[in-house]
Amino acid sequence: MDAFLLHSRALAGALLFAFSTLLLFPELPCAQQNGITRHYKFDIQMTNVTRLCHTKSMVTVNGQYPGPRIVAREGDRVIVKVVNHVQSNVSIHWHGVRQLRSGWADGPAYVAQCPIQTGHSYVYNFTIVAQRGTLFWHAHISWLRATLYGPIIILPKRGVPYPFAKPYKEVPMIFGEWWNADTEAVINQALQTGGGPNVSDAYTINGLPGPLYNCSAKDTFKLRVKPGRTYLLRIINAALNDELFFSIANHTLTIVEVDAVYVKPFDTNTLIITPGQTTNVLLHTKPTFPGATFLMLARPYATGQGTFDNSTTAGILEYQHSNASSSPSFSKKLPLFKPSLPSLNDTKFVADFTRKLRSLATTQYPAKVPQTIDRRFFFTVGLGTSPCPKNQTCQGPNGTKFAATVNNVSFSMPTTALLQAHFFGQSKGVYTPDFPIIPLMPLNYTGAPPNNTLVSNGTRLVVLPFNTSVELVMQDTSILGNESHPLHLHGFNFFVVGQGFGNHDPEKDPAKFNLVDPVERNTVSVPPGGWVAIRFLADNPGVWFMHCHLEVHTSWGLKMAWLVLDGNLPNQKLPPPPSDLPKC
Ligand code: C2O
Repeated sequence: MDAFLLHSRALAGALLFAFSTLLLFPELPCAQQNGITRHYKFDIQMTNVTRLCHTKSMVTVNGQYPGPRIVAREGDRVIVKVVNHVQSNVSIHWHGVRQLRSGWADGPAYVAQCPIQTGHSYVYNFTIVAQRGTLFWHAHISWLRATLYGPIIILPKRGVPYPFAKPYKEVPMIFGEWWNADTEAVINQALQTGGGPNVSDAYTINGLPGPLYNCSAKDTFKLRVKPGRTYLLRIINAALNDELFFSIANHTLTIVEVDAVYVKPFDTNTLIITPGQTTNVLLHTKPTFPGATFLMLARPYATGQGTFDNSTTAGILEYQHSNASSSPSFSKKLPLFKPSLPSLNDTKFVADFTRKLRSLATTQYPAKVPQTIDRRFFFTVGLGTSPCPKNQTCQGPNGTKFAATVNNVSFSMPTTALLQAHFFGQSKGVYTPDFPIIPLMPLNYTGAPPNNTLVSNGTRLVVLPFNTSVELVMQDTSILGNESHPLHLHGFNFFVVGQGFGNHDPEKDPAKFNLVDPVERNTVSVPPGGWVAIRFLADNPGVWFMHCHLEVHTSWGLKMAWLVLDGNLPNQKLPPPPSDLPKC
C-alpha cells in the first residue's frame, strides 16, 4: 500500500472509502486504463482559528485550515460535493487540473459557474487525465482563497513508478498567508479607496507561521525525518500576493516535478515558487544523525513598488536518532542551522532558476510542444489607473485608483457566468469576442512610462477554433513600475518556450525559443521588465480564465478569458452543464 496513504493524517471518511476500495481490488499486473471514483464532501463553514495570538472566525472547508487533501491517481474520477453553510458566495477551483471537456467543474466564479449561494451545494465532477504530481484547490471568488485551500495529490497509475527514486515518505508543504484581519474587509476597503490593500501579518507552512513571529513558536511546522532516506516534499504556493523563496539549511533539494509535470531533475539549495505554482522536490537526508536541527525558511521575492509583507516563515527539520525507539525525543539543545536566502528582489536568481526547468521529454513523458503556430498573440500585462469617482478621494497613484490590465483592458467581471452565456448562446450584454490580440497603442513597454496611465474596461474574450495552436508573448510594462506577474491559464498546460528582459523582439527572440524540452506548466512569471513566450494547443472546449495569480492584481483587473469552440467530433464538444449548476 502507498506509504503516502498510510502516513497521511486525518483520513476523511470519503478517503477511507477510497482506501478500502483500493484494498478490495488488489494490484493488477499493468497500469489500468480506467481509474476509480473518489468521493469527497466539502462543508464550507465558519471556524475559529488562532495564530499570532489573534483569534478570528474564518471560512474553512470542514473546519480545517489548511483544508483537506484530495488524493487521487492519474486516471481517477474525483467527485466533490461542496455545501455552502456560510454567508458569502463560494466556488472552488481545482488549480491546474486540465478539466478536459469538464469546464463546468473548473470553478472560477462568473467565468465557469455562478457562485454557490448560502444553503446551496454543487457537485464538482472531473477526471484526472495525463497528469501526475502535486496541484492544489482553492476558492475562486474574491479573496476567500486566503483560508480556503488545500493540496491535490495525484499519484501515478497503479504499477507505474516515479521517474526518480521511490521516496520513503511524501510530505505536502503548502505555503499560505495569514491576516489577523478579515481578508474580505481588506480587499473591499482597498477597492473602495483605490489604494493598495493591507499586507498579510505572516506567511505560513501548512497553516503554521513558525517561531520567527511573535506569539507563534508553538505554531511551527516540524518535518521529522530519519537519516539516510529520501523524502518527497510536495511544495505548493497558496499565498495570495507573494512569490516565495524556499530553502532548508545545509540540505540540497532535487527538483523533479512542477505543476504536475515531471522535469529533468536538478539540484538547488533554494527554489522560487510563485502563487499558483507547485514544485515537487526530493530531500535526501544526511546519512547519519547530524546532531543538529535545520530551519526551513520561506520569504518573498518582491519586485513591485508597493508595500509587501517582508516577513519570513520558518519550519524545522528534525532528525530522529537512528537507534531511537518508536517515540524518539527531539532535543532542544542541538545547534540550529539557518539557510541564507536570496535578497528580496533577486531577479537574477529567479531568472537563472527558471531557466533550469526543462521537461523530461522522454518517450514515456514526451513534451508535445506545438511546432507550427496558427495564431500569435502579444499581451502586455501590468498596472494602470482608473479615475477617482466624483465626491471621493482616492488613495491610488496621484489620487486615482489602482487598476491592472492585459493589453490595457481591465477585465470587468460579469454578473452571470461566461461559460453559461456562451453555451446557451446568450452572450449579448455579457461579453464581447473582441479581445485585442496586440496592444492598441504600441509603446516602449519597458522604457519611460507614458503620462497617460488610464486603463479601459471590458469583458472581452479571445475566441479560438478547436485545436488552434497558440503562441502568446506576455510583456511586462513599466507603468507604475516593473513587476513580476505570475500568469495562470485555466484548462491547459503550456510550454514556456522563451523569456527575456526588456522588450520582446519579434525579429530576433523567436530564433532562440526552446521547442525541444521547454518546461510545461500552468503558471509562469512574466519577469519584471521582461517577457515570456508560451505555446499551447487549444484542445479543450470551454471558457478559460487567464489571470495574474497575485490576487491583488486579479482584483484590479489583470485577467481575461479564452473561449475555445467545440470541434466537429462528438468527443471534441463541451457536454451540457450538470443539473445542479448554480444560478446567478
Ligand atoms: Cu489558482 Cu484562476 O486560479
